[in-house]
Amino acid sequence: MANEAVFDPADSGEPDHQGRRRFLTATTVAVGAVGAGFAAVPFIKSWNPSARAKLAGAPVTVDISALQEGQRLIVEWRGQPIWIVKRSRAILEALPTLDGELRDPRSENADQQPDYIQAESPELRSIKPEISVLVGLCTHLGCSPEMVAEIRPEPFDPNWKGGYFCPCHKSKFDMAGRVYQGVPAPTNLVVPPHHFTDDNTIVVGVDPGAA
Ligand code: FES
Repeated sequence: MANEAVFDPADSGEPDHQGRRRFLTATTVAVGAVGAGFAAVPFIKSWNPSARAKLAGAPVTVDISALQEGQRLIVEWRGQPIWIVKRSRAILEALPTLDGELRDPRSENADQQPDYIQAESPELRSIKPEISVLVGLCTHLGCSPEMVAEIRPEPFDPNWKGGYFCPCHKSKFDMAGRVYQGVPAPTNLVVPPHHFTDDNTIVVGVDPGAA
């Protein structure tokens, strides 16, 4: 999708002016971009620190009030794309049925999510069941996987239950970012530290209770 293509984390490390210009352009476009394979959210409010502050790791506050089921909001934190996805009931019901096909179904690799995510929701990997927050970079070589959220047969998996597919080397993740067995990616997608300040506001980069 175009809104994924415009974000290039590699630009963030370039010291030259040309690189900085490209980064600022990418940041401007990436913050608030929404993709779902369905319809775009007409507007997403988010209020954020400067690009320089974000590179240093400043938290990013996101208003998700316009996010609909099946949609993905993409923001940027620490030079990485952060996906915020609203999952449907059908997707949530399908997730536990996939455990036998996954490499780390209960999120036991502690490097891939904060402790509170593993402790409270090892299968859904989220604070609220319907809202998934992930770092949108494949754990194989860092490509940004495609979201294929519909439950339907796909060319790469006739029993597809929705998830993320990385066309680079065909890694597959479910809608909780859990990696399938038998693919190049070694681990689940990363869940970044985050918390809710109210039903429609997420702060990425700060653990619950640490604000
Ligand atoms: S980078 Fe995703 S499968 Fe290789």
